[in-house]
Amino acid sequence: MGISVGIDLGTTYSAVATFDKATGTVKILKNDIGEDCTPSVVCIEDGEVTIGQAAKDLQAAGNVNTAAFYKSMMGEPNFSCYIDGQSFSAENLSAAFLRGLKQAVEEANGVTIDSAVITVPAYFNEAQRQATLRAGEAAGMRVLKLINEPTSAIIAYGLTGQGEKNVMVYDLGGGTFDVTIAHIRGANVDVLATNGNHQLGGKDWDAVIVEEVASRFYDQFGVNVRDYEDVMNELAVKCEKTKKVLTNVPVTQISVQCEGFYGKYDISREFFEERTQTQLAETTLLIQKCFDEISRQSGKSFGWTSLDEVVLVGGSTRMPQISKMITEAFGRPPIIIGNKVDTIVASGAAMQASICNEGSITLSAASGFVRNTNTAPGAPAPTLTICGDAIKDVTSHSLGMLAFLEEKSLDLINSIIIPKNSAIGEAQGRWYKSHADKICVHVLQGESDNPYDCTFLYSFTITGLKAGQENRVQVFFLYNPSGMVEVSAQDEMGRDLPVKKEQGAGLALSAGRSLDQIIAEVRREKEEAMRRPPLDVTFVVDTSGSMEGRPLDEAKKSIQEFLAQLDQTDAKISILKFSDSCDWKCYQTEISKRPFIQKAIQSLEVDGGTTATPLGDFAKKQGFHKIDGKILVVLTDGEWEHQGFEIMSAQSLKKKGVIIYAVGIGDADFDFLSKIASNGGAKKIDLSSLADTFRAIASSIATQS
Ligand SMILES: Nc1ncnc2c1ncn2[C@@H]1O[C@H](COP(=O)(O)OP(=O)(O)OP(=O)(O)O)[C@@H](O)[C@H]1O
Ligand SMILES: [Mg+2]
Repeated sequence: MGISVGIDLGTTYSAVATFDKATGTVKILKNDIGEDCTPSVVCIEDGEVTIGQAAKDLQAAGNVNTAAFYKSMMGEPNFSCYIDGQSFSAENLSAAFLRGLKQAVEEANGVTIDSAVITVPAYFNEAQRQATLRAGEAAGMRVLKLINEPTSAIIAYGLTGQGEKNVMVYDLGGGTFDVTIAHIRGANVDVLATNGNHQLGGKDWDAVIVEEVASRFYDQFGVNVRDYEDVMNELAVKCEKTKKVLTNVPVTQISVQCEGFYGKYDISREFFEERTQTQLAETTLLIQKCFDEISRQSGKSFGWTSLDEVVLVGGSTRMPQISKMITEAFGRPPIIIGNKVDTIVASGAAMQASICNEGSITLSAASGFVRNTNTAPGAPAPTLTICGDAIKDVTSHSLGMLAFLEEKSLDLINSIIIPKNSAIGEAQGRWYKSHADKICVHVLQGESDNPYDCTFLYSFTITGLKAGQENRVQVFFLYNPSGMVEVSAQDEMGRDLPVKKEQGAGLALSAGRSLDQIIAEVRREKEEAMRRPPLDVTFVVDTSGSMEGRPLDEAKKSIQEFLAQLDQTDAKISILKFSDSCDWKCYQTEISKRPFIQKAIQSLEVDGGTTATPLGDFAKKQGFHKIDGKILVVLTDGEWEHQGFEIMSAQSLKKKGVIIYAVGIGDADFDFLSKIASNGGAKKIDLSSLADTFRAIASSIATQS
């Protein structure tokens, strides 16, 4: 049977670890050359893939079929790397690397890896997470979960089984920077805030040296090494080495060879630190952002003094300038994990993999990860149990949807549903009303109100609704435990509705429509809806003597049901009662003015016979106004005195585009009703189904509009 591992898939170095349940310890799985860390470099030649140190050596020797730093391009639709006569996406390169890494580790340790928890920078967005997940699966592993690198470090390092503290993890790797602040209670972790920059890492410190050397070489020989890909590859590797040397010595030398010229230059730590101030300042800015966010969320000021520990993770935190900056700001030195700095993230991921499989794990004292302080003489060696639900991570990006700024506006905004720093794994529900058979939701990731500053992720289409009825649907938005977006929907009864997901162009160029297309479409639909005149409905209600009692009570109730069902905020409502005379109880009252309409309905009273001509009166009242599209709902229980005249009035109204529904109860004459109603609009029914009939008419009107 295969094992589950944790993989720290780093920009520059990767590490693999596994948790051994029997001993309660984490084992770092060394690669084929006996090392804990494997350079995340890939070389592809004639279809043959080489990874790790061997590939890095080829890169250093100027081989142009090598690729490194592709992690920072994960999920980037416009990035491709052309090597070995083919183009590769960052995801393809990652998959090739992971396949090679898996094989090397399996052979070296005599194991089979069948599943893994893969780490990602906390600041990775949906596209980057999706790409990482697919790369892991393409490499032949079941991906149990993606876990944020700083959180992984906290699991491995920060838990103590007792006491409470606020811990900041400052993770500066080869290509990414993350800062995460968590509250720890015993073996429980609550992440409070996270920020990062997935384009900032050790490579940007290397770049400063590359630039310096290139410009000195140009000044000396007039040759621009930037034009020579092989020289630049070589220089990249050399400058990284130089940077590491500067961690230990104040000054070192670097040499370059190009076009037969040879240059050798001194680089000092002082110069290096001064030239990398901008990069360092970017990290402090992101720390401050975390402080601000926590202060805002908790309503209490949070800053350096609120922290109990600062932990440094990532190879680049070995640079002395990092500890110096933290010590100055924090007032105390940070915790440096020492020899575990390169493998701590993989260790946490290995623990997480075991937690995924087993629900919880128990670390033994021998693991070296137990920081219990209960050392009373004779006390048993401390252990630490970590449960799956004890680790609460947060989302690093807000999730929102495309929405109109106001009801009458065409301006679209990103309306945030799950704000950043919300706990992942907790769904947020929103209610929607629709008279159509489906609902479309367009989902964005980002903090800005402006959709164009966000990434358009998906369009979700929720189906299974009943056209022409008011459907109340609850849509659930969720960041799953891997920090990836999921949407589901239920009807009013709590039944699941089908949800179709269409990938947006923010995730992959080839798939899906662009944000521009979506916005144009949504606007067009709204414009059409706004151009349509408001619904204009007139109830023509028989109040002759025979309506006395229950019939009129039912009629009043049914009109109210009709209005509730119609639910169009801009409809206009009129009520015309008729007996021996006609009387307008209300005229073109906006449906939102409910109390007015209510009063009009309540004022309907029975009086006399049926000698009035309501359809003729209606026509007269309209005068020369446009009446196309107006709707009449006639309710009567008997025969009218002037049926012939009213049939003529109805025909003339219908010709001008008025739509007439005629509902008969009691002794109503169906033949007459059919003559005044529009096609199929006549009904003779039992009084008990009056409310249902009115509701049905309302929903058919709502759908047709
Ligand atoms: N002694 C050192 N001094 C300075 N930098 C160092 C030292 N040792 C390693 N580094 C730098 O640390 C970086 C690698 O760190 P690490 O392995 O934590 O990153 P990674 O996991 O590959 O990247 P990321 O976490 O950004 O994806 C490289 O940029 C490397 O040059
Ligand atoms: Mg890392």
